[in-house]
Amino acid sequence: MNTKKFDTVFVPTYAREGAPFTHGKGSYLFDSTGAAYLDFGSGIAVNALGHAHPALQKALRTQGNALIHASNLYFTQPQIDLAKLLVKHSFADRVFFCNSGTEANEAAIKFARKWARTISPEKYHILSFTDGFHGRTYGALSATAQEKFHAGFDPILNGFHYAPFNDMKAVRKLLRQYKFAAIFVEPLQGEGGINQATGEFLRFLRDIATKHKCVLVFDEVQCGMGRTGTLWNYQQHKVIPDIMTLAKPLGGGLPLGAVVTRDEIALCIKPGDHGTTFGGNPVACALGIATLSTVADRKFLADIRKKSTLLIEKLTALKPKFPAIEQVLGSGLLVGVRMKDDPSSIIAACRKNGLLLIKAGHNTVRFIPPLTVKTAEIGRAVAIFKKVLITIFQ
Ligand SMILES: Cc1ncc(COP(=O)(O)O)c(C=O)c1O
Repeated sequence: MNTKKFDTVFVPTYAREGAPFTHGKGSYLFDSTGAAYLDFGSGIAVNALGHAHPALQKALRTQGNALIHASNLYFTQPQIDLAKLLVKHSFADRVFFCNSGTEANEAAIKFARKWARTISPEKYHILSFTDGFHGRTYGALSATAQEKFHAGFDPILNGFHYAPFNDMKAVRKLLRQYKFAAIFVEPLQGEGGINQATGEFLRFLRDIATKHKCVLVFDEVQCGMGRTGTLWNYQQHKVIPDIMTLAKPLGGGLPLGAVVTRDEIALCIKPGDHGTTFGGNPVACALGIATLSTVADRKFLADIRKKSTLLIEKLTALKPKFPAIEQVLGSGLLVGVRMKDDPSSIIAACRKNGLLLIKAGHNTVRFIPPLTVKTAEIGRAVAIFKKVLITIFQ
């Protein structure tokens, strides 16, 4: 199939090739030629329950038949139920729904600035960290401390400052220079290359955010919702943020993002300050309820941790055989194999062999299977990865 011809009708934001995908089942995706792929990318950490999960199909049918859209001028039951579930399962008192990760971070920037202005008009600066990723719209892009995403889109917004990830000294220095409204951090960086914030660094950020009266925002768009083996990544470090931003798996495959926060910050926002036509769509929220209720189950989370150990062990066992592997990193089912060089050709070869993987940073292969992945599928994925490494390196 000549897939190049599809390129002509799209703005080329992605370098895509291959036959279009037509359907999925469990951990597998199928394309229009009938080829099957083990999906260890999960639509970039979205399909937490895999493809065609019965709970999602049921929610889609039921809510789709009842009501597809009403707007945020009115309440809808799925939105109320999902907000209550998020509050029940997190530190938060209140929820704002939007459609994506970047929108969740935009809202978080605005909420933090509105709150900080109650303290001082100069308190509008935002601190974030190198190799973090917070989205592509201007606020979230400005908080994304990676030059490659800014290139060609200058000027980046005023008031955004960056420190090296896990570098406390650099944070202290910036705190002496600016009055910060918020500190944005991914506790486990996904796009930037599977980099874990140390517990010490997160505790330090918590302390200085409290001391300097700024809002600590954990972007758990990628690492939240069970992905790292606990419902939220912050639970592993026992550090509680003031705002957490969510998206990706939250809508079970439909666009849904959320900002969850405490009363003190939420109640600085008045009707008209912020909004969205589609955010918290009832069908997306119905799928969100099905996803969150499944993932929040203790046994489900324990199972993720077991499968994580298996995946990490199997990948680590490859390291002595392949010097091209530098390190196996990550937590839960957000796992990276850091290579010595750009792994794009490895990822392309894996796809040809029926395994979908995603690059993170410039040298890391990301393994983010559905949280429902079976142990046999983990074995199969690592076997394909190994076969590809043998072909390329031996
Ligand atoms: C941690 C994090 N924050 C924000 C985003 C942006 O999310 P979206 O693509 O839904 O706008 C991403 C997307 O990869 C992400 O990984």
